[in-house]
Amino acid sequence: MATDHAIGIDIGGTGIKGAVIDLGTGELVTDRVKVRTPEGGRPADILAATEELVTGIDQRTGTKLPLGVCFPAVVKGGRTLSAANISREWIGLPAEEMFEKALGRDIHFINDADAAGYAESRYGAAVGVEGLVILTTLGTGIGSALINDGVLVPNSELGHLELDGHDAESRAAYSAMERESLSWEKWAKRLQRYYSHLEFIFSPDLFVVGGGVSKHHEHFLPLLKLTAPIVPAVHRNNAGILGAAALAIR
Ligand code: BGC
Repeated sequence: MATDHAIGIDIGGTGIKGAVIDLGTGELVTDRVKVRTPEGGRPADILAATEELVTGIDQRTGTKLPLGVCFPAVVKGGRTLSAANISREWIGLPAEEMFEKALGRDIHFINDADAAGYAESRYGAAVGVEGLVILTTLGTGIGSALINDGVLVPNSELGHLELDGHDAESRAAYSAMERESLSWEKWAKRLQRYYSHLEFIFSPDLFVVGGGVSKHHEHFLPLLKLTAPIVPAVHRNNAGILGAAALAIR
């Protein structure tokens, strides 16, 4: 394995995914491996599951490649500072240090949407875009990344904007559509309210929409009327892995 390879791990509410990335091209050089997120999402259990996944990758590569981990929380200085859809035990935890000890190498620990945004700006839908790009991931929650002229402003947490008296992600995330069995049209109305508000506040030059549901973008993106273009993420479910790996040896 070449030195411009790194492992990206994406920890989510349902699964923990990982792969080795070629940082020159942004391509996966191994298959993506996945384990289920342990019930309850508690730190010790997630760490054990991640360790199992990474050990498998180390055995295949025959070395310990640099490693980036992305996670659904505010992450500052290697500490996880919030817990929206995971165990509250993560709040205030020195997660990066904990993972470094267990996995035996330097690790870069970051927010999952920031990783996806970084990946799209370096290898995907936002390459070379001047000005402000807002990436949102529509999943269990809404993750956000702000990238201005290619520079990431971390931990924006725009899924938790209060809109019409609600935490925005509770109404507009993909999980809300599933939970309430909304049609694409009904869900798109909520997305319209959300993205219009983001546009009013930030005047971005481009919106990029990620998360698993972005592979069905033709059902909802054309229904949205915004001034800035709104496009699906190129790397969809792999964007977190890619960004985490790229940020590990930036
Ligand atoms: C969390 C964010 C995360 C997003 C997507 C939100 O609930 O607060 O930190 O990026 O979900 O996983």
